[in-house]
This record gives sequence, structure tokens and C-alpha cells, in this order.
Amino acid sequence: MSSARPTPDLETILAALDVACRAPSVHNTQPWRWAIAEHSVHLFADASRRLPVVDPDGREMTISCGAALHHARVAFRALGWQPRVHRLPNPADRDHLAAIEFTPLPQVDQQTLAMVSASAARRTDRRPFLNAPVPAELLEQVASAAVEDNVRVTIVTDPVRRRQMILALAHADVVQRADSLYQDELLEWTHRHTHSHQGILAGSVAASGPLPHGIPGRDFGTGDLESPPAVADGATLCVLSTSTDEPLDWLRTGEALSAVLLAATTAELGSCALSQVTETRVTRDLARLVTPNGIGEPQVAVRIGWPATAEFPGPTTPRRPLADVARQWTD
Ligand SMILES: Cc1cc2nc3c(=O)[nH]c(=O)nc-3n(C[C@H](O)[C@H](O)[C@H](O)COP(=O)(O)O)c2cc1C
Repeated sequence: MSSARPTPDLETILAALDVACRAPSVHNTQPWRWAIAEHSVHLFADASRRLPVVDPDGREMTISCGAALHHARVAFRALGWQPRVHRLPNPADRDHLAAIEFTPLPQVDQQTLAMVSASAARRTDRRPFLNAPVPAELLEQVASAAVEDNVRVTIVTDPVRRRQMILALAHADVVQRADSLYQDELLEWTHRHTHSHQGILAGSVAASGPLPHGIPGRDFGTGDLESPPAVADGATLCVLSTSTDEPLDWLRTGEALSAVLLAATTAELGSCALSQVTETRVTRDLARLVTPNGIGEPQVAVRIGWPATAEFPGPTTPRRPLADVARQWTD
């Protein structure tokens, strides 16, 4: 490779990867590794962080990495570099999810800067949202932030479909609660000590426990986060789906998920990814009913709504030190 190729310097790359690592990930496993080459940056899945019980195929691990990839794309643009992404560049290594090359960007747009700010402010909010509708145009705006090939975002507006989706979410929770392996895995990643760099800490879980009414979420037990008294959850549900169900679809779903969550944060909306419904065959089939024409693979659902409390956003969620996930690489 010619050394004349313009490439961001190491400081810029590390700054972008720091933003990338703020991405959401299932159980906050942060299942990614970054390799910094002379003229490119590479994203790998860290398969040692895959959740064997809920994620046997690595689908949610790859979605999580896709979210980090989208965060990285936004961050590089904000730092004046247009990323060119090659997805799944190495058929011989299925963990090699993306290779990113760069061209200088003459100007940074305001929307990109707003998205980078949103990456710092965004949190998964598991508390009930205000029982006040989010205007349809705003929901459309948030959904349309996801412009990934082959990924559809369905806003569940029809009350019957919403009811079906809520039943599917509730059913998924009942099935999983009865599974001791699921419970063990959840416990392993929940309520770690306050200085942990990973997993879901008590500060991110409502003191009142899981939502009492409305949209059922994953039960992380009872945490420390102040939450409004038991009110109905006014969240809108969205479902991200793809027409096929391959690793490339999962990666792009993660990128779309990140775009939706950052757009919601920019609009001062709270959000929470919900993946239980896609983790058992029967509930994934039920969730398919809300996808366009009832076809396609539901990949992840999202609750979006107005925060019901002034304590917004909630506390920062921990991340592993960058030095643990990024290294120099000779390609
Ligand atoms: C693929 C995926 C699935 C997730 N599933 C759930 C879920 O079912 N319930 C939930 O409360 N949070 C879920 N999350 C959110 C993560 O728990 C959250 O991103 C992580 O704990 C880090 O916290 P943060 O989003 O506040 O930074 C999911 C996130 C991703 C990317």
C-alpha cells in the first residue's frame, strides 16, 4: 500500500473508536475487537463474548458489532473522514466483520455532529415512558434514519398488531424465565459490582423492577434507578426486520439499530432495544406478523417514547477500556 494514501492519524482513530465503543450491545457484552492497520481499521466479532444460551448463532453478537460499526462511521465522519466500509471482507474468517478505508471529508455536516453528541447521551432506558403519543412525523423521521440495505423498520401503529407484539414479548419472557440456563446466563451479566466495565449494573435497572404494565421487557431484577410510579408505558414499538437471515443482514441490522437509537436520542426521546422476542422460534414467528406483508425475519424490537422523569438520561453505562479492545495490526 502506498504511504501517500491519506489516512487518519492514530489519535483520530482512537477518538473515533472510543465513540464506537459507546454503542449498545446485548447484555452490554461489547463483543467487538478493533485492529488498526496502516491505512484501514478492521472490526472483528469477539466470539468469546457471545451469549451461548440466547445467541447460539452469534446473531445478536453481530447486531451489536453492527451498532458499533455505525457509531464508528458517524464518528469518523464527524472527525473529517469519510469511511468506505467493506462488510465481511474475508470469507475465510467469519469474525472479520468489516474493513474500513478512508477519504478526507472537506466538510462535516450538522446532522453528523448531532449524532456524535447523541452517542454520548444515549442510554438504554428500561423505565416506562410518558403516556403521551410521539407525533407520527417524528416517529417517521426516527425510523427513516435507518437506511441500510435490506433492513426495514416497522412502526407498530395498528392497535391489534401492537397487542400481538406485546403478547409475543410477554410469551418470550415466560418461556425464558422457565429456563435455568437462561437465568444463569442473565445473572452472569447482571448486577456486577459498581466498577465493572461490562454487563448491566444496578444503576441502569429501575428500582421498581420490570415494567408493571404495558410493554414487557427483559427482567433484570430490581435495580437502583429511580423510576416513575407504576404508570402504563406509553412507548411506541418498532420492529427491525430483514428479508433474509444471514450474517450480513445481522450486521446491517445493528447499523440500522444504531441509526434509529441515535436519531431518537437527538429528538430527546428515550429508547430501549428488546430482543427476547427474537430469541425463541415461536415468538419470532409471532413478531413476523407485524413485519411488512408478514414476511421477513424480525431481528430486534425497540421501545421509543418520551421520558417520564426529569432524571434523563440515566447514569452512564460502563465500557471496557479502549486498550482492551483495540490493537495495532499489520495487514
Ligand atoms: C442486539 C441487542 C439486544 C438487546 N436486547 C435488550 C433487551 O432485550 N432488553 C434490554 O433491556 N436491553 C437490551 N439491549 C440493550 C443493552 O442491554 C444495552 O445496550 C447495554 O446494556 C449497554 O447499555 P446502554 O445501551 O445504556 O449503553 C440490547 C442491545 C442490543 C444491541
